[in-house]
Amino acid sequence: METADRAAAGHVLARARVLYSQRELAGLLDYNARQIARWESGQSPIPMAVLPALREICARPRQGGVGDFTFVDLFAGIGGIRLGFEAAGGRCVFTSEWDTYAQRTYAANFGGADHLIAGDITKVGPGDIPDHDVLLAGFPCQPFSIAGVSKKNALGRPHGFECTTQGTLFFDVARIIAAKRPAAFLLENVKNLVSHDHGNTFRVILDTLQRELGYSVHWRVIDGGHFVPQHRERILIAGFRNPAGFDWNASRVRATGRGGPRLGDILHREDGTETDVDEGRYLDRRGRVQPKYVLTDRLWGYLQSYAEKHRAKGNGFGCTVVGPDDIARTLSARYYKDGSEILVSRGRRRNPRRLTPRECARLMGFPDSFRIPVSDTRAYKQFGNSVVVPLMCHAAELMRPWILEAKASAAESSPVQPALF
Ligand SMILES: C[S@@+](CC[C@H](N)C(=O)[O-])C[C@H]1O[C@@H](n2cnc3c(N)ncnc32)[C@H](O)[C@@H]1O
Repeated sequence: METADRAAAGHVLARARVLYSQRELAGLLDYNARQIARWESGQSPIPMAVLPALREICARPRQGGVGDFTFVDLFAGIGGIRLGFEAAGGRCVFTSEWDTYAQRTYAANFGGADHLIAGDITKVGPGDIPDHDVLLAGFPCQPFSIAGVSKKNALGRPHGFECTTQGTLFFDVARIIAAKRPAAFLLENVKNLVSHDHGNTFRVILDTLQRELGYSVHWRVIDGGHFVPQHRERILIAGFRNPAGFDWNASRVRATGRGGPRLGDILHREDGTETDVDEGRYLDRRGRVQPKYVLTDRLWGYLQSYAEKHRAKGNGFGCTVVGPDDIARTLSARYYKDGSEILVSRGRRRNPRRLTPRECARLMGFPDSFRIPVSDTRAYKQFGNSVVVPLMCHAAELMRPWILEAKASAAESSPVQPALF
């Protein structure tokens, strides 16, 4: 197989793995899970014969969940963390997300829902939440992110835990963990959570999880750039009800640098070989990105002069033009405004363009089968707020053995119920 074909096959497999565990994929392809692992690690080449089946698997929404363990999806957004835990064999039993547009995207992708999406988590009592093995929560990062903090400071408003609305949502997570005592949890947030308020915020969070709730807690800042062509550092906090030998260092995160993912892997090909999975929403009939994504002369002129002004003052300004060999800066929820942090070059003489929402989805590692039923503005916000899905798959794979062990030991220690006739 040519190197290019091998790389393309690797990408198709990686996308399929966002949807299914190795075991599930093995079942779907009629291979064994060890063989899938060998393809993934590059120990043996992916046979060309399985490519059509793999492509078909990627093109349709995930089928069912095997349900080796159950989980709840809090602050669910569009379900990025859910995808990772479903791929590791989990089944979602409860969702909370209050934004109606995010709910729309979530429902379009996880529809035929076995449960309704609950709204404001502060209004949800533990009795409304089914028992579960794992609690997932990417609680809102705005009070902790640098942008959020400086904006709130500028307005003379409190931030972090002092902020009486968004900052306290962590305590809603803690309240639910205390009441439901899941075997494990995974919390996700911005890297800046660690240093916020000179480390006090994070100390309170760890103290609550470890001392008050008695969980064994393991945290790590990981760059999503190991998995997608985007620099995106996030903190992952894994907790286990029973002491667990869990170790983030067990992760075989590929080193970034040469050979890692590049933007060319996620950009529309624009050479006529890509059919628009979104039926003409992003590509014209010749397979070129629709002109509406190209910056107008006015906006491009404005961004250039703004960047120049800041450069002269010695400040950096986030106007970055990238090409297929680059790695993008962090996609933010404000990308819809001017797209300035990631502009795709169209050559020196032509204005750059924004990423399309489909490219944003890919930049976050969502499979092409993921449906985008909302406007571009909403979609940009939703992907900018979401997670790097393959990183979630990775976290879920690492946590899975300890989740199953905790489940098994709980089953062993619970008294055998006499049969009722
Ligand atoms: C950082 S985003 C999480 C995104 C998610 N991990 C994903 O993959 O899309 C936080 C989410 O929490 C939601 N949210 C904020 N406050 C909430 C509340 N009180 N109840 C329910 N959802 C809330 C926001 O609408 C937002 O979608």
